[in-house]
Amino acid sequence: MIEKTLDSLVLEVKEMSPKLGSRAEFDSFKSTISGPKGKLTDVMKLMGKVPKEEKPAMGKKINEAKQVIQASMDEANKRIEESELLSSLGPTIDPTLPSPDSEKGVLHPIAQVRDQIVELFNRIGFAVVEGTELETEYYCFDALNIAKDHPARDMQDSYFLPNAIQMANVSKESDEKYLLRTHTSSVQIRTLLKEKPPIRIVAPGRCFRRDTPDATHSANFHQIEGLYVDKNVSLTDLKATLDYFVKMVFGDSAKTRLRPSFFPFTEPSFEMDFYSPNLGKLSNQWLEIMGCGMVDPEVFKSVGLDPNEYSGYAFGMGIERIAMILQGVDDIRYYYQNDIRFLRQFSD
Ligand code: DAH
Repeated sequence: MIEKTLDSLVLEVKEMSPKLGSRAEFDSFKSTISGPKGKLTDVMKLMGKVPKEEKPAMGKKINEAKQVIQASMDEANKRIEESELLSSLGPTIDPTLPSPDSEKGVLHPIAQVRDQIVELFNRIGFAVVEGTELETEYYCFDALNIAKDHPARDMQDSYFLPNAIQMANVSKESDEKYLLRTHTSSVQIRTLLKEKPPIRIVAPGRCFRRDTPDATHSANFHQIEGLYVDKNVSLTDLKATLDYFVKMVFGDSAKTRLRPSFFPFTEPSFEMDFYSPNLGKLSNQWLEIMGCGMVDPEVFKSVGLDPNEYSGYAFGMGIERIAMILQGVDDIRYYYQNDIRFLRQFSD
């Protein structure tokens, strides 16, 4: 009689347990089996009445049945636990489906041109260095041989900070002022003070001037500075480097021209123009894209290098200017308006 009850109990559990769909169903079914008034509990109670000699065999049977019941219930419990977890995670998702928001980000057009230029100089051995956007008059002007009465030093032309401010990471003399760098040429000085020639670097970065914004001026813009210092560096080296650069950026048919100019930190100084026959509206005219020259002996002296031993060239170009030519953009302000319709045109 006990055996029959056990057999049918095992059958019932095996049949029912896979059908239990929720925690509540599971719990209530479980109590009908192993709860205080459950069927298995009842069977166990009958053990007391089993004759002594049959007890071991019966005990074994009950244990076997209990194991089978337990295994079925464990399986049902596990299945319900998993479905509870899944429903707590929300609707089922397929992570392999493409995202509905599939617009991928791209570098800003200015950053694209910056990287392109830097990469071209990397190829011919120029390392990339970065200075600081906050500068002192020393790095930005004095060490670059820029006279005390130069217009760039005027409050109206550059962004100076109040004198009381002291930045922990940019040291200065007490009577010196901080300003937002007006050009990346300050990185020349930082590098020359830190490293020994031969030095071959490009320094891309953001610059600031008090300009009224218009189609070609922005108070915040970007430059790339170049500096090469070694023994016996000549103007021919500068010209060859610039030729390489211009041909790589604007194509083999582009030509360069150096026009005499003046910068306090180079002697002689030049403006470099280039000319390209296939530049759309800008074809067949000389376009000025950078200032350059041979490092002025005064600059060497201010960083403790002997101008009789070392020579070098430097150049500085506005990234926006080159980007505008390459990308056919006729107003610099587009670059800073974050208009997605404009920016999207430079993603591929
Ligand atoms: N710093 C100059 C400017 O902002 C550009 C420049 C000219 C940089 C000549 C140079 C250079 O390194 O040699 O207008």
